[in-house]
Amino acid sequence: MTERMVVNIPVVVHVVWNSSVENISNEQILSQIDVLNEDFSAGNIQIGGIPAIFQALIADVGFHFCLASKDPSGNSTTGITRTQTSNNIGIGGTSAIHHSSQGGHDAWNPDKYLNIWVAKFAGGIGGVGSFPGEGPADEQGIEINYKQFGTFGTATNPPYHLGRTCTHEVGHYFNLNHLWGPSANSCCNEDDGVADTPVSCEDYLSECPSGTTFSCTAPDMWMNFMNYTDDACMAMFSLGQKLRMYDALNNFRAGLLNSDGCQAVATEEQAVGTELRILGNPVRAQLNLEIRSQTGSPWKLELVNMLGIPVFCEAKMANAPVSIDCQPFPRGIYFLVASQNETRIVKRVILI
Ligand code: ARG
Ligand code: ZN
Ligand code: CA
Repeated sequence: MTERMVVNIPVVVHVVWNSSVENISNEQILSQIDVLNEDFSAGNIQIGGIPAIFQALIADVGFHFCLASKDPSGNSTTGITRTQTSNNIGIGGTSAIHHSSQGGHDAWNPDKYLNIWVAKFAGGIGGVGSFPGEGPADEQGIEINYKQFGTFGTATNPPYHLGRTCTHEVGHYFNLNHLWGPSANSCCNEDDGVADTPVSCEDYLSECPSGTTFSCTAPDMWMNFMNYTDDACMAMFSLGQKLRMYDALNNFRAGLLNSDGCQAVATEEQAVGTELRILGNPVRAQLNLEIRSQTGSPWKLELVNMLGIPVFCEAKMANAPVSIDCQPFPRGIYFLVASQNETRIVKRVILI
């Protein structure tokens, strides 16, 4: 089996709210991260409905979005900031949203984090994304209307209830144009800079077509995330768009490639006498360990893969040998995380 290449993109979500309804829940934020991970891995359920002529062009972009676990000062974080603003008209889409001194929230170093601001927008705009090299360095990122972020809570109004506004804006952030090209006029003569997306002239705003439709000469890829199609009818990035996004990543946003924003923060606050001991590392089949602790209460033990996804999670007692069967898990680098209340101990584990 060939291994999937994945690029981790550390994300910070800045919720800037005026009335409390705009202060969306952590769960709603997580639902958006899930959508990004599905859409950028060709893992969404709409993929199956893509017409046969485009099936071979569907890209697994290979981006994995993780809410930051480490903030710019190296402290552990939820990857979410919350700021109440006095702007009640809609700070979304303004320059002010990027600045704490103007009622918004300062970006975390955009070289290390994808900054996503969520707020109310004046008017009906769903979101904006900065193209590489466009706009001030400290305003890089994307902004999404709180009514279109995630898949529940404040974001339940079709056609923008499936989190695709954010998918679309992340596309812009990695230099993707709309399918009809950068300028929106003379579009049948204009290209989006991507070879495998057909030239088209129709934006499919508020539409959900089916079958083959034309606006120029070749069938339109109306289900592409870079149209204005309804959320429920968008499904894919193309292989050419994937290449263009990697170009943008390598040339403009390369800092993301070695960001430590999603790494676990080593704990210093662990109680005296508490210790996580791994007996034999690298590990072949059985991961043997012991947690030494003054308190007898159970610990949560997680084995987390490089994508931040737990492959094993169970409660285990301290001061007794523990053995985890690692044969079902692919070889590689993992983190063993033992946590109890505020204490978290992290050890690197290598499965061979
Ligand atoms: N209007 C926004 C833009 O041009 C995004 C529209 C996204 N469409 C959607 N179905 N969510 O950037
Ligand atoms: Zn757009
Ligand atoms: Ca094209």
